[in-house]
Amino acid sequence: TRTHDEEDLPHATKKTMADHLRKYESLFTLTPQRMRMIVEAFTECLELGLSKPNQIVPMIPTWVFGWPTGKETGDYLALDLGGTNLRVCLVTLQGEGKFEITQTKYRLSEEQKQDDGQKLFDFCAECLQTFIESNTGDGPGQLRPNQLLPLGFTFSYPCTQERIDHGELIRWTKGFGAPNTEGRDVADMFKKSLEKYQLPVELTALINDTTGTLIASHYVSPRTKIAVIFGTGCNAAYMERVPDIPKIAHLGIASDAEMAINCEWGAFDSFEHEHLPRTKYDAIVDDTSNKPGEQAFEKLISGRYLGEIFRLVICELIDEGVLFLGQNTYKVEKPYCFDTAFLSLMESDPTDELLMIIGIFTHFFALETTLAERQFFRALAKLVGRRAARLSACGIAAIVNKMGLLEDGCSVGADGSLYNKYPSFAERVHEGLVDIFGDRGRNVVTHHAEDGSGVGSAIIAAMTKARREAGLY
Ligand code: GLC
Repeated sequence: TRTHDEEDLPHATKKTMADHLRKYESLFTLTPQRMRMIVEAFTECLELGLSKPNQIVPMIPTWVFGWPTGKETGDYLALDLGGTNLRVCLVTLQGEGKFEITQTKYRLSEEQKQDDGQKLFDFCAECLQTFIESNTGDGPGQLRPNQLLPLGFTFSYPCTQERIDHGELIRWTKGFGAPNTEGRDVADMFKKSLEKYQLPVELTALINDTTGTLIASHYVSPRTKIAVIFGTGCNAAYMERVPDIPKIAHLGIASDAEMAINCEWGAFDSFEHEHLPRTKYDAIVDDTSNKPGEQAFEKLISGRYLGEIFRLVICELIDEGVLFLGQNTYKVEKPYCFDTAFLSLMESDPTDELLMIIGIFTHFFALETTLAERQFFRALAKLVGRRAARLSACGIAAIVNKMGLLEDGCSVGADGSLYNKYPSFAERVHEGLVDIFGDRGRNVVTHHAEDGSGVGSAIIAAMTKARREAGLY
């Protein structure tokens, strides 16, 4: 094959890529002023979600009352149905913020995400059964035969909860579409599967990954006030004063209580699209998704979509005859073939020649690139990644505003593949917070959180058991 060197190309190519970049810069860049406008609209939406049921940002009361004491102890099972994998954990809480965890991951296929809902929960029960069998014995740290175990089920989709062991699925997100599940009580469906497999397990709490992260993060670092997941999806939770949740005033809960709120902020600006800067690539991602109109904020930020946004720009430039003329581009034209992990790889390529980018394009897409093109790809990855981080900062800022956390500052527990594997993501969130709040924005700092869906889920199960034993709900 011919190597495509800079010298082979007309001088115009370099200039053209720089010109194109300018256009995308103006489309993907968020000014501090625009960010502040978003924060204002976002803050109003959070308030609205707390005041009335069924709002766009649903602000779901989770029935997790207050912070853990750090003294929670015991053995718990945790089941985590996230976006990509299914995970089963056995967590031993040892008190004083210490714990041990044994876990197994099971792959979820695309078909399973679209197959009947009850079958999905049957599969969860089946994995749980395999896990229990292989961890039962008389050795230390093993389960005893038929030992009845409390289980925290981390089900990371928006569910309205009337109690902690109940949850009506509002809608699937993150590409799931299993029929016969939306509008139903998923805790009840899961209990049916537990019965079917006759498992010695009691479903104690149904939780969201953000709530789990909030609690687990606070268990080990008590300055945590907010938790955010930046993974396949994007969402946040924080602790709210019960009197400030008007939509549950009729329940007569003690006014000095606090309850964790699962914001489901991924839904911000859904349907109306009034506040967020959507480009035509974002509109295509939305229109071609299984849920057009929904999760508008999440679609600009989360790992499920960033690679696809990047790919759509590339495809536009292919159609315009700017990129890869004379090469066969069918591989890169396949929707969702461009993994979000490629963006962070491209950004962190340390070589002058951008060898990593050569590798990605030749290996995965059989495409040759010039240096000018690779520089363009790297710059474009930065634009898409940076916009995502700055929008995330807007969401965090809205909670900080609402709760008045700016003066004293607070720590934000963050988790998810995007946060953990995209090196500059956290830094850009912090820059965004300074753009919004000025210097005081430095008082709000994100940190890598403790495993919320495993450890957090176990702590919440422990807190729930303790409340029940004390006769509280
Ligand atoms: C999606 C889900 C939400 C979850 C988030 C992160 O936004 O709707 O429940 O917390 O993804 O996993």
